[in-house]
Amino acid sequence: MVFRLEAERAHALSLWALRTRMAMLVMPPRRVPPPPGLARRLWGLDFAHPLGLAAGYDKNAVAIDPLFDYGFAFVEIGGVTPRPQPGNDRPRLFRLAPDRAVINRMGFNNDGLDMVAARLAARRRRLAGAPVGRRRPVFANLGKNKTSEDALADYTAGLARLGSLVDVVVVNVSSPNTPGLRDLQGRALLTGLLSGLMAARDGGIAGEARPPILVKIAPDLDDAGLADVVDAARDAAIDGMVVANTTLARPDSLQGRNRAEAGGLSGRPLKARALALTREVYRATGGAMPIVGVGGIESARDAWDRMAAGAGLLQLYSALVYEGPGLVARIVDGLNGRMIAEGVRDVGEIVGTAA
Ligand SMILES: Cc1cc2nc3c(=O)[nH]c(=O)nc-3n(C[C@H](O)[C@H](O)[C@H](O)COP(=O)(O)O)c2cc1C
Repeated sequence: MVFRLEAERAHALSLWALRTRMAMLVMPPRRVPPPPGLARRLWGLDFAHPLGLAAGYDKNAVAIDPLFDYGFAFVEIGGVTPRPQPGNDRPRLFRLAPDRAVINRMGFNNDGLDMVAARLAARRRRLAGAPVGRRRPVFANLGKNKTSEDALADYTAGLARLGSLVDVVVVNVSSPNTPGLRDLQGRALLTGLLSGLMAARDGGIAGEARPPILVKIAPDLDDAGLADVVDAARDAAIDGMVVANTTLARPDSLQGRNRAEAGGLSGRPLKARALALTREVYRATGGAMPIVGVGGIESARDAWDRMAAGAGLLQLYSALVYEGPGLVARIVDGLNGRMIAEGVRDVGEIVGTAA
């Protein structure tokens, strides 16, 4: 039924169903604790298993706990910009069903830092007495306003406002839908931006909190561009990388009638590139920088391959559109089954084995 709706309406309906917990009636989540061998610990944070929700689905932090109920080990909210903004004109979200892909040119439509911070703070208060097991990591994806001239100020505002309300901060310099944003991936600009954010964090801009800071990169970087990003990440000593955002590339294989729409392409056609880039980043950093692998993950096999290429954690978004939320449990089960079959006791042992 959802599939018959225009894509952005379907997205809004699914979020509403989660928020009101209507979704749980229609599609009850399976509540089975994942086997302990799937657990991961990074940056001092505990993850029940490696798979989380990628940025862009719950931009405004309205459905974090219902999303956890469907089994995600972590949820990335955002992108959030300092001031609320409407994003691009509709239509701006398109399914490419034959390709198992999505094209979006949302343009950072979001409620802004004040509203999102208020929601996160209210959630914190609600969870204050909850058992530790309920406290699953939340990431915040930070963007800049379309009309802002000062990127560092925008990201710093995001860090200041959300840094103490989430567990990990992701600096998104790779959305293709904000003019000029990807230019921030250049060596000098990126080093300045990331060093500035690290210094602000360590100087206490988010109070007591010192959230890990990750940078999210584009899959369209060439070799020189990637080398620049890796150097900048290393020079600024950031805590990890999210690989990767949507692509501007349009493979010849695309069949969907929306394939010529402008925007970022995600889902199955992004898989090979995101996998290769994960491997390149892992090699370039000698495996020393944690990688969150994202782009085209839709099965346990993809999850395994991405970890073997060097990802310590995983995320997905587009595959949910086609598979529904039951996919999370299927991937976690599949990973576990293969670990048993191959005699792997700790999922972390897979990381980088095929890099
Ligand atoms: C509708 C939509 C909105 C997105 N919004 C954001 C965003 O605000 N910030 C961001 O870093 N990535 C955003 N992404 C990119 C995803 O987080 C992810 O990197 C990308 O879709 C590749 O993963 P997938 O193939 O599993 O979808 C968005 C993706 C989609 C489809």
